[in-house]
Amino acid sequence: MEQENFGSKIGAILAAAGSAVGLGNIWRFPTETGNNGGAAFLLIYIGFMLLLGVPIMVSEFVIGRHSQTSVSQSFFKMSGGKKGWKLMGLIPVVAGFLVLSYYAVVAGWTLYYAFLAGIDGFAGKTPDEIGTAFQSFCADPINPLIWMAIILVINGLIVALGVQKGIERGAKIMMPLLFIFIIILVACSFTLPGAEAGLQFLFHPDFSKVTGQTLLNAMGQAFFSLSVGLCCLCTYATYFKKDVNLMQDGLQVATIDTLVAICAGLIIFPAVFSITGLAPSQGPSLVFVTLPNVFQQAFGSSIVAYIFSLCFYLLLVMAALTSSISMLEMIVAYFCQERHISRPVASIGATIVCLILGTFCSLSFGIWKDDTLFGMGFFDLFDFIVAKLIMPIGGMLICVFLGWIVDEKVLRAEITNMGTLRAPYYPVFRFIIRYLAPICILLIFISQF
Ligand code: PHE
Repeated sequence: MEQENFGSKIGAILAAAGSAVGLGNIWRFPTETGNNGGAAFLLIYIGFMLLLGVPIMVSEFVIGRHSQTSVSQSFFKMSGGKKGWKLMGLIPVVAGFLVLSYYAVVAGWTLYYAFLAGIDGFAGKTPDEIGTAFQSFCADPINPLIWMAIILVINGLIVALGVQKGIERGAKIMMPLLFIFIIILVACSFTLPGAEAGLQFLFHPDFSKVTGQTLLNAMGQAFFSLSVGLCCLCTYATYFKKDVNLMQDGLQVATIDTLVAICAGLIIFPAVFSITGLAPSQGPSLVFVTLPNVFQQAFGSSIVAYIFSLCFYLLLVMAALTSSISMLEMIVAYFCQERHISRPVASIGATIVCLILGTFCSLSFGIWKDDTLFGMGFFDLFDFIVAKLIMPIGGMLICVFLGWIVDEKVLRAEITNMGTLRAPYYPVFRFIIRYLAPICILLIFISQF
């Protein structure tokens, strides 16, 4: 089957940035920052992005672009024909199904909230009403499933269209829109009375609040946010052309990802702090309960509240979509390249499986709340398996593979684009993937159990 590539360098960067920027930045990052003491967490998170996130991302790029084939073939070929490494090809498929199934549930919520914002559904509601409405929406057996299904179908259609017409075009349209919305929202948030308290929280570190757990949380957030460890970026890198500067691309994607996360903080914290009585709270409630309240209290039932909330939830929908596209692509690429199934059939089939698995995840907020496995509902279980098991193991194996198994000449050739680029950072990069990254990841992993 003929290999399609991203048509332009900017398309490649935007697609990878689209995968990285998602609910992890706008939903998970402010929650984690809120729970871990603000600015100190932010600094540690940025440290982990640079020390671990970028090197692993670049490693995934090297593997994908060097072999230009499915993940299992990449690992098989680059290991010099060792069969065991072929099993790495299963990571994107298994993790892809799991992560997309639960991610689509939250993405569906964002679409529903964009719809609610569009019909001015928050106007005149009391904080209690907004809170109860969210609880009963999540627990409803039908409504969230419909919104999840819409997200999955749009996702499936974009991936079925292919790499250039679907993924690249989608990223080229959605990513600039996302940046525009972010700038508007940050500006609005800054004008709120008392916004400085939010800025203080985000930018004045208090290291006395840092514990071992903070370090682990920051590292986990860096992984999830950059989409590393699942070979998702290996899959995207198979569509990179030979002249893409992998280190520069990795740094650009990480910079965009971090800036979006900081901007999400700049939107959310001034808004939350400007209204007395609200604190950076936990879980889904910050984005789906606290914020609609903030919009109402700050702007009343005005047109500003309407525009602010509509832009915010549309932003979330687009961020979620560009990430979920990359999740489906890792599954579809496997079935196209390894099983020779056509792209549209693979997209439809994978979407149907995710619809079924996603139904289990969604119902675990409602009628199946009490049906747990290892003490977790389906949603939490899937998140646990992906973020706490597969991501660290995958990230570590990628480093070990590239640092110890693959011929060093291949690594050097990919980083320097066959010797045409100067790469003074190469020894540092190699040291990180050989020693620092695997050891750090091993430590996170062990400490989690
Ligand atoms: N990085 C994405 C986000 O921040 C989530 C993601 C994880 C995407 C794994 C692809 C693979 O939302």
